[in-house]
Amino acid sequence: MSIEKILITGANGYLAQFIIDRLRGEYELTLTDIVELDRAIAGTTFIKADVTNAAEIQAACANQDAVVHLVALVRGRSDKPAPLFADVMVKGTWNVAEACVKQSVKKLVNISSISACPPAPNAKLPYEVDDDFQFGPGDLYYALAKYLGEQICAAYHQAHGLDVIHVRPGVIDGDGQNPGPTAPEVVKDPWFVYVDPRDVAQCVARAIETKTVQYGAYNAVAGRADSRFAWRQAAEDLGYSPDHNWPEIPGDDT
Ligand SMILES: NC(=O)c1ccc[n+]([C@@H]2O[C@H](COP(=O)([O-])OP(=O)(O)OC[C@H]3O[C@@H](n4cnc5c(N)ncnc54)[C@H](O)[C@@H]3O)[C@@H](O)[C@H]2O)c1
Repeated sequence: MSIEKILITGANGYLAQFIIDRLRGEYELTLTDIVELDRAIAGTTFIKADVTNAAEIQAACANQDAVVHLVALVRGRSDKPAPLFADVMVKGTWNVAEACVKQSVKKLVNISSISACPPAPNAKLPYEVDDDFQFGPGDLYYALAKYLGEQICAAYHQAHGLDVIHVRPGVIDGDGQNPGPTAPEVVKDPWFVYVDPRDVAQCVARAIETKTVQYGAYNAVAGRADSRFAWRQAAEDLGYSPDHNWPEIPGDDT
């Protein structure tokens, strides 16, 4: 299975720019978003499409070998109602998975989040993907929509053999939504939840490249000993090797 053409949804977003930069030398990229791109990106094609519109996203998936799905309600989400999360993130992801199958796309890299499965109070840390999780009231719509998005993609893997890799980024540095990491006064380990967007892009590139993983979920976080979410499975299975690990913040003794 050789991947040459990739569709990127949510292409006008913050994380997408790093993924586009990482992939565009090697693949033929088609970019899609509900809004026009803020910047022209040489050597790429743009299709304006709304993921909640099945026909539009199906048309965008035509002739693609892989899709990297980034659309979510990220900025200012605390004020938004539950039905909007159901529409954009749940129905939108369902439309993308269905479109992949209808258009014979081989692989879906679903950008999920460490929020998809919040560690249960009794979970050992660092949190591995299959450990116990428990939702809390904070950011529930987003977390639940991420979880349901993963389940939808998993169903399409099982039912149709679509290759699916969920990449679960930690808190992405520099996105304007969250402050970057600073060392806490009292270190409760493992506490570090951040990731550099260039490392998320590297993890996505590895997920595209792998020929041995047909289904999996991987935390994409900094490669630190005090990371709250385990990253070594991504290293082992995909060859993820985070390069930006805030060595100036104590605790990185990996
Ligand atoms: N920012 C973080 O800290 C963080 C952490 C973990 C995971 N993630 C995930 O990474 C992905 C990208 O996050 P980001 O920070 O770049 O977000 P972003 O808000 O910058 O990008 C989201 C993009 O989706 C587009 N979009 C929204 N609704 C759409 C629709 N109906 N149809 C088509 N496009 C639509 C927006 O126009 C925007 O360009 C998301 O899936 C997010 O959940 C982000």
